[in-house]
Amino acid sequence: MKRGLFITFEGADGCGKTTQIKLLDKYLCSQRYTTLLTREPGARGLGEKLREILLNYEGEVSPMCESFLFLADRAQHVDCIIKPAIENGVYVLCDRHTDSTLAYQGYGRGLDIDRIKLLNNIAVNGLKPDLTIVFDIDIKTSLSRIGTKKDRMESAGIDFFNRVRAGYINIAKQEPDRVKIVDASDTIDNIHKKVVELVKQL
Ligand SMILES: Nc1ncnc2c1ncn2[C@@H]1O[C@H](COP(=O)(O)OP(=O)(O)OP(=O)(O)O)[C@@H](O)[C@H]1O
Ligand SMILES: [Mg+2]
Repeated sequence: MKRGLFITFEGADGCGKTTQIKLLDKYLCSQRYTTLLTREPGARGLGEKLREILLNYEGEVSPMCESFLFLADRAQHVDCIIKPAIENGVYVLCDRHTDSTLAYQGYGRGLDIDRIKLLNNIAVNGLKPDLTIVFDIDIKTSLSRIGTKKDRMESAGIDFFNRVRAGYINIAKQEPDRVKIVDASDTIDNIHKKVVELVKQL
């Protein structure tokens, strides 16, 4: 069985990840590829319970606890869903993955970057995306797209999100072969075309 592909979609809240991942999924299906559209946190099962805590818990959550909850979800997701699918030749499209933890808990919350990288590596047990697309946009614009109903992560404030955005740009500079930045202020259609181009290059 030919190995599938693993493509992750990253960027700050409201940048357009979910919109674009659905369009790419539709495109790949039209080209007769077998795809799996999934997300973090909380793809299904246990993950959905962790997602509920991560996005809606109203009490205090320490940055390290938050990181471990995301990592616990990721370990389960990789072992039970992502790896088996890739091994079966599926094109796995994942809405957020390791770079979110690096950008949000590392650059955003200020936890040690190398430590987060190490914890990420333990959680994914060696799996690396073949391609990661980071949707980059001015934070005020992306947050205005989401509107007023924000979850726990989305309520973290503009300075936090500016650090997250700068974090993603750093990640892309460090791994230019894997991580590609796309201007997310463009129209949905133009962004989709760029995404398809990047996937074709694979
Ligand atoms: N290029 C675009 N131009 C204008 N509006 C857009 C664009 N892309 C997405 N949107 C709109 O912005 C909102 C947020 O988009 P989307 O849910 O895809 O972002 P997201 O990155 O998945 O957000 P989150 O991190 O909160 O899951 C949606 O209402 C969507 O229709
Ligand atoms: Mg989304």
